[in-house]
Amino acid sequence: MTRHLLRDDDLTPAEQGEILDLALELKKDRWAQKPLAGPQTVAVIFDKSSTRTRVSFAVGIADLGGSPLIISTANSQLGGKETPSDTARVLERQVAAIVWRTYAQAGLEEMARGTRVPVINALSDDFHPCQLLADLLTIREHKGELRGLTLSFFGDGRSNMAHSYVLAGVTAGMHVRVASPADYAPRADVIADAERIAAATGGSISLTTDPEAAASGADVVVTDTWVSMGKEEEKIARIRDLGAFKVTSELMARADDAAIFIHCLPADRGYEVDAEVIDGPQSVVWDEAENRLHAQKALLVWLLSQD
Ligand code: CP
Ligand code: NVA
Repeated sequence: MTRHLLRDDDLTPAEQGEILDLALELKKDRWAQKPLAGPQTVAVIFDKSSTRTRVSFAVGIADLGGSPLIISTANSQLGGKETPSDTARVLERQVAAIVWRTYAQAGLEEMARGTRVPVINALSDDFHPCQLLADLLTIREHKGELRGLTLSFFGDGRSNMAHSYVLAGVTAGMHVRVASPADYAPRADVIADAERIAAATGGSISLTTDPEAAASGADVVVTDTWVSMGKEEEKIARIRDLGAFKVTSELMARADDAAIFIHCLPADRGYEVDAEVIDGPQSVVWDEAENRLHAQKALLVWLLSQD
């Protein structure tokens, strides 16, 4: 059966671990695997802007022996005249996989239902599972075993990043804390799904409106932009509402002494994080950005090897 990665809980804990192991191998030997030699093409479609995702998929597909086809929806029929399922039926006859950055999760689900090739969510309004594979890889490199670590997220708990930390974090057996205003708490259905996973992995989820409590003893401190793509009209309200959840040096000082700071980037210094934190000694954001390449290559190798 064709496997897709539409949200973080599409992977079991064992599968997530397998992909991270493979990512570490590919990081050591970048050209070790060539499943796309031919070259086969992978379509990488963008409805929203991107630097890291665009570059890391293009480079990664080339590393795997393939040819990336980068499509901007502004210049395609998708999103205008053509549905995701019709687009999927056209693409599947010519490409080995479809990577799509879009708005609605429902569009990705429709794309996946309509095709025999793997569909990868390269960020939707709800989840960013490719980023989480890179983030877990980074945390593993810096902190060792993921299971049992405490990861604390600050800010917009309803963002794609917060939802992905919740799901992927508990899948890895981590304790995930989300500190946000009550109106920005993660979606209840995502929390319910995470709690089911946590019960099996030994991870946990806790939601709080108290950033200092969330930071206390944390191993990993993380935030994301307060103004995600598509939310630009809410910018003024978001800066007002989320101000108390900024990651500052004072907040970092409450975390474990060996805590690391991660951020998917792009970052707004002075808003969700102070420059002295993101540019300081505990920040590993450049390793994290590089790991998009290795994690996504492992994901592609893994998805293409499934029946
Ligand atoms: N982190 C991330 O997905 O970055 P881009 O928007 O630049 O792809
Ligand atoms: N939450 C951010 C992530 C960017 C990589 C956004 O959706 O804009």
